[in-house]
Amino acid sequence: MSADDNPVRPLIAGNWKMHGRRADGAALAGELARRARRGGSAELRCDLVICPPATLLTALADIVADSPVALGAQDCHPLASGAHTGDISAAMLADAGCRYVIVGHSERRTLHGETDDVVRAKAEAAHAAGLVAVVCLGETEAQRAGGETLAVVDRQFRASLPKAATAANTVVAYEPVWAIGTGKVPTTAEIAAVHAQLRTLARGRVGEGERLRLLYGGSVKPGNAAEILAIANVNGALVGGASLEAGDFWTIARSCP
Ligand code: PGA
Repeated sequence: MSADDNPVRPLIAGNWKMHGRRADGAALAGELARRARRGGSAELRCDLVICPPATLLTALADIVADSPVALGAQDCHPLASGAHTGDISAAMLADAGCRYVIVGHSERRTLHGETDDVVRAKAEAAHAAGLVAVVCLGETEAQRAGGETLAVVDRQFRASLPKAATAANTVVAYEPVWAIGTGKVPTTAEIAAVHAQLRTLARGRVGEGERLRLLYGGSVKPGNAAEILAIANVNGALVGGASLEAGDFWTIARSCP
C-alpha cells in the first residue's frame, strides 16, 4: 500500500523526556494549542499529542483542553494503585487528563531494566485505564551491525504487545536505539523494511492491524520529517528533541502527507 491510499490518520507525538518547568511547559503547550485551534485538525492531517513530564500533566491538561492537542505521559506502573513509592499508575494518568502513555521507550528499557514482559504489563494497564499505549521498540547499533534488526523488532513486537491490542488502543513506535538523540537516521529503505514487517505482524496479531499506527522515532527533525512521513506504513512520528520547540514540532506535524 502506498502512503497515498493509506487510510490511517497519522499521529505526531512529542516526547519531552525530563525537560520542562511550569513556565516553559505552559508556554510550549499553549503555543501548540493556539496553532492547532487556529489551523484546525483537518488542516493538520494528523493527530497531535504531547508527552510532558508528569509534574506538568494537570496544568497542561487545562491549557490544551478543547484543542486538537492531546496529552500523554511517558511511562506508567503496571498496577492501578498500591505501595509503589515514586510510581504513577495509568489510572492516575487518565485522571490527570491523559489519553496516551508511552511504554517501553528504549531509555526505560535500558536505564530502568524494563523487559518485554514489563512493557506488556504496562500496556495492559494503560488499556485497563482507557489510555492508548504507545509501545516503543527498536534495535541497538550492535544488533543492526549484526544483521539482527528484523529479528529483534519481531521479537519485541510479539512480546511487548498485549493480546488485546487493537488499532484503537495501541500505537507502535519503531525507534532504532542508535538513532535516538544522535542525529543519525536509517535510510528510507531501512525504515520501509522494518515498517513493512511491523505491518505484517500487526495484520496477524492486532485487531484491525491494517489500521495500527506505526510511528518512526529517532532524530526526526523539520528537515527530514516529510521524507520519513511519506514512507509506506509510516503513520506518524515520535519526536524527542525537536518537540521542545513549538515551531519545529509544528513543522513536523505539517509535514504529514
Ligand atoms: P529524538 O528522540 O527525536 O530526540 O531522537 C526520540 C525519542 O526518544 O522518542
